[in-house]
Amino acid sequence: MRKKIVAGNWKMNMTTAEAAALVNTLKADLANFREVEVVVCPPFTALSTVSELVHNTHIDLGAQNMHWEKNGAFTGEICASMLRELYCHYVILGHSERRQYFGETDAIVNRKTKAALAASLHPIVCVGETLQEREAGKVEEVITTQVKGSLAGLSAKEVLESVIAYEPVWAIGTGKTATSDQAQEVHALIRNVLTGMFDATVAQSVRIQYGGSVKPANAKELFSMPDIDGGLIGGAALDAKSFIDIVRAAV
Ligand code: PGA
Repeated sequence: MRKKIVAGNWKMNMTTAEAAALVNTLKADLANFREVEVVVCPPFTALSTVSELVHNTHIDLGAQNMHWEKNGAFTGEICASMLRELYCHYVILGHSERRQYFGETDAIVNRKTKAALAASLHPIVCVGETLQEREAGKVEEVITTQVKGSLAGLSAKEVLESVIAYEPVWAIGTGKTATSDQAQEVHALIRNVLTGMFDATVAQSVRIQYGGSVKPANAKELFSMPDIDGGLIGGAALDAKSFIDIVRAAV
């Protein structure tokens, strides 16, 4: 049985004070909630504050990005051990905004994924097609290439420690959600790719989240699809009530 996982990707939002207020509200509601794994991914500047606030709760901490090197002359970057020091358990890697605005390729995502795993962080590896690619009938090709490239060289044990997030680029922040059937189709495809790379048991055990305009109104239907194991939530994660409703929709 795969435990559902709902993660809030706060992106470049929330001052430290705002982050504290949000997480305190989440805590009041979700501190002892165990049915679903709940992760919050604040910006780097709020990690320390949020880390202290979620300590001894069932809310987990994640970061939104990291560098693949262990340390060194990489101005402006953050490495895995720095995230571990703040008790991060997860790190989002290869989000489409990183791919689109910061030139991240599957090869870069792969290096970061390996570095995260080597530091005992669970990577949330994002894949997804653009609208143009979908309209050109290239969903299968694009997703297969991204999954194979991003997870290349991982052991079965490592992929089991990872989470995959399917986030169609055209659905992110646009209010256009993939229908539950469209999302399910790609999640099943990702499991097929994993079966080819590893085996059927591994493929059935890896958690695959859906992301892209998930809201309280559509969460239940998406999360009830057989291959959808929760969500990666952007905009709706900035509002405590919406996020809590989405988390509870995953039960
Ligand atoms: P959204 O973002 O929920 O605002 O569409 C999802 C994401 O980018 O992770």
